[in-house]
Amino acid sequence: MSRVALEHITKRFDDVVAVDDLTLEAHDEELLVLLGPSGCGKSTALRIIAGLEAPSEGTVRIGDRDVTDAEAKDRDVAMVFQSYALYPHMTVARNVEFPLRARRVPPAERDERVAEAARALDITELLGRKPAQLSGGQRQRVALARAIVRRPQAFLMDEPLSNLDAKLRVQTRAELVDLQRRFQATVVYVTHDQVEAMTMGHRIAILDRGVLQQVDAPQAVYERPANLFVARFIGTPPMNTIEGRLTGGADHLVFEASGVTVALPAGLASATMSASPDRVVLGVRPEDLRLDPAGSLTAKIILIESLGHERHLVVRLDDGQTVIVRQPGDQTPPRDGEAVTLSANPDSLHLFDADTEQRISS
Ligand SMILES: Nc1ncnc2c1ncn2[C@@H]1O[C@H](COP(=O)(O)OP(=O)(O)OP(=O)(O)O)[C@@H](O)[C@H]1O
Ligand SMILES: [Mg+2]
Repeated sequence: MSRVALEHITKRFDDVVAVDDLTLEAHDEELLVLLGPSGCGKSTALRIIAGLEAPSEGTVRIGDRDVTDAEAKDRDVAMVFQSYALYPHMTVARNVEFPLRARRVPPAERDERVAEAARALDITELLGRKPAQLSGGQRQRVALARAIVRRPQAFLMDEPLSNLDAKLRVQTRAELVDLQRRFQATVVYVTHDQVEAMTMGHRIAILDRGVLQQVDAPQAVYERPANLFVARFIGTPPMNTIEGRLTGGADHLVFEASGVTVALPAGLASATMSASPDRVVLGVRPEDLRLDPAGSLTAKIILIESLGHERHLVVRLDDGQTVIVRQPGDQTPPRDGEAVTLSANPDSLHLFDADTEQRISS
């Protein structure tokens, strides 16, 4: 398969800038996820790669070819949508075969490739049925079979699992990852679901209002979010962000908010001294906070959500800011309304400049 690259792509719809100077590449055999909230420009970026939308500025490359001005049908990419867009009057076999007929592939080869795609997606027994006689998950597999039968340069997928129920989504997610590996496919995969992005992507590109925020491996994005937007977008429950101020000097820099005192570890302290931000936001993931009688954050429990294997303790700090603490299910839960103290794992603190919203990196 081939790499897919966007170079300085901007797309304007009248006064809306849907994609803003986006430069991004899915490497050969990579599953790259485009992630972001509704309206951030994910589908527009994908449609520009597919040739269904022309960019206002910038270059699209597939392999070594500049395809910016090529028609969609000449780009040799297969698109899979949220709505499976199967032809209702055709059987599954005819649906899967359709792109091959359109390309005038000879009948014998057509049959062979349809059988191969059907085996890959485990739909051989369904080949004689019509789409109306299939479940949502089966329809989605037929749509995928129709995409792979073409052996395109790359796959473009726009929220392909979002019509499936939760259980089927998890299963189909794993099947898609397996398929990508077996076919060594280059895939650009759009979703607004960060769990899907984390579990499927080799790398994740996070967009906000058309602008690329960060692109990196899932764990790297989780551990080192580039800015407050990414910090708050990745993770369930999301990262706690606490506004406050810095006191002390280089050898003992302390983050303070009402009822909160957190000493910064040496590396982060020196990075912060050289960045010298006016105002800061401290980021702490819910799993990096714990109930601790000797802790330096004073708070009050306002809600306890039990998920069985863990609890989410919603607590209010003295100045009214709310944070969430993840507590393993086998620990003793606090009482509703109880006054507690918390401590934060010093090695997993994140600090952001409150004005630029950028990460201050140690
Ligand atoms: N054809 C169009 N005409 C005008 N505006 C458009 C058009 N297509 C998209 N937009 C606007 O461009 C922005 C990005 O839309 P896009 O569909 O790419 O978002 P998305 O990230 O895919 O969102 P979702 O998760 O809801 O599918 C939105 O503000 C949208 O309203
Ligand atoms: Mg979309």
